[in-house]
Amino acid sequence: MFSFLSKKKPTTAHINAQAITVQPKETLLQAALREGIDFPHSCRVGGCAACKCKLVDGRVKELTETGYILSDAELDQGYILACQSVPQTDIRIEVDLSAQAARRTATGRVVAQDKLTHDITQLRVQLNDALPYKAGQFANISIDSLSGVSRSYSFATPVQPDSQVSFFVRRVPGGVFSTAINDDSVVGQTVTVDGPMGDFWLRPSTAPMLLVAGGSGLAPVLALLQEAAAADESRPTTLLFGAREERDLYALEQIQEIARQWRGPFRFIPVLSAETVPDSWRGKRGLVVDQIPEVLEVGTHAYLCGPPPMIDSATALLKQHGIPGAHIHADRFTTLHDVVAVAA
Ligand SMILES: Cc1cc2nc3c(=O)[nH]c(=O)nc-3n(C[C@H](O)[C@H](O)[C@H](O)COP(=O)(O)OP(=O)(O)OC[C@H]3O[C@@H](n4cnc5c(N)ncnc54)[C@H](O)[C@@H]3O)c2cc1C
Ligand code: FES
Repeated sequence: MFSFLSKKKPTTAHINAQAITVQPKETLLQAALREGIDFPHSCRVGGCAACKCKLVDGRVKELTETGYILSDAELDQGYILACQSVPQTDIRIEVDLSAQAARRTATGRVVAQDKLTHDITQLRVQLNDALPYKAGQFANISIDSLSGVSRSYSFATPVQPDSQVSFFVRRVPGGVFSTAINDDSVVGQTVTVDGPMGDFWLRPSTAPMLLVAGGSGLAPVLALLQEAAAADESRPTTLLFGAREERDLYALEQIQEIARQWRGPFRFIPVLSAETVPDSWRGKRGLVVDQIPEVLEVGTHAYLCGPPPMIDSATALLKQHGIPGAHIHADRFTTLHDVVAVAA
């Protein structure tokens, strides 16, 4: 009798204008997919942020801590992960459903593996068909030799007329996919590219722009800048690129070319955090985030990409300097390690 009385009841979720029923213990994503809504998603385990949506009313229980994948700015604005959220009351959600409609699975072949640094490889894939995406977005990639393994990587160029796509893959210690791309030959293998996903793209504005990239986080930032330069962008722009040592810097010629094409002021500041050889580096030293106050202009819009700790400290610092969350855009390169760590 008691347990009957305390049994949880279904709740109603309004997804944009559509109402659906969510069963007790069901996640918002499970309910939406069951009801036939093409809700954006990918990993379903809280690892990719593809199912990110805005909770505008009601309460959810989160199955995992989402602070590792959503930025502070997004959390402040009420963003949740649909795959990790079980409604506790009736809720109202806003989500861009067109994103999922644009997503498709393309196949292709690896045509090159170019070493960019000792631990970053550019993977070039010739797709069989065009795959439209916005510069800054990512896709889930899988290759023949690693069946059942799929990982997220950001497109490192804007859409190319020949349907070739590129990804910068940094070797993660103990990582299955990134080690194969950096250490084994995969040229000629069939590749599946599932995308595009993500909302890291350049918002139209004339405000000064600050881009902060760490390691392979330069991939979407380069794509975004190349696309903007080709469109004659002129807004004052600063690119901070954080690396450990001088040997970790790459794509310098591409950045020079972007700076040459840019119609307005363009500053490029590489920052090394662990260069030990004295006098070998005459540029900035320290953590890339610590350079932000020096270069920040009034009304700046920020674009951050790289490992989660870099994004968190950059976001906190930008906020301290009065940049509102709505003008901070971030792409976090979360790994399985981050997901497992919060689930533990
Ligand atoms: C939106 C998005 C975009 C991304 N874009 C890029 C990009 O452009 N370039 C890039 O280099 N990376 C990017 N990443 C990261 C990328 O998706 C991979 O996570 C990364 O390459 C590691 O994959 P892997 O298969 O080599 O490692 P995995 O095998 O997934 O392992 C990753 C780490 O977790 C540890 N680990 C694995 N399993 C467990 C476990 N059960 N318990 C504890 N620890 C475990 C491993 O030892 C390793 O250290 C992106 C991630 C996201 C979410
Ligand atoms: S589908 Fe929810 S985080 Fe990947």
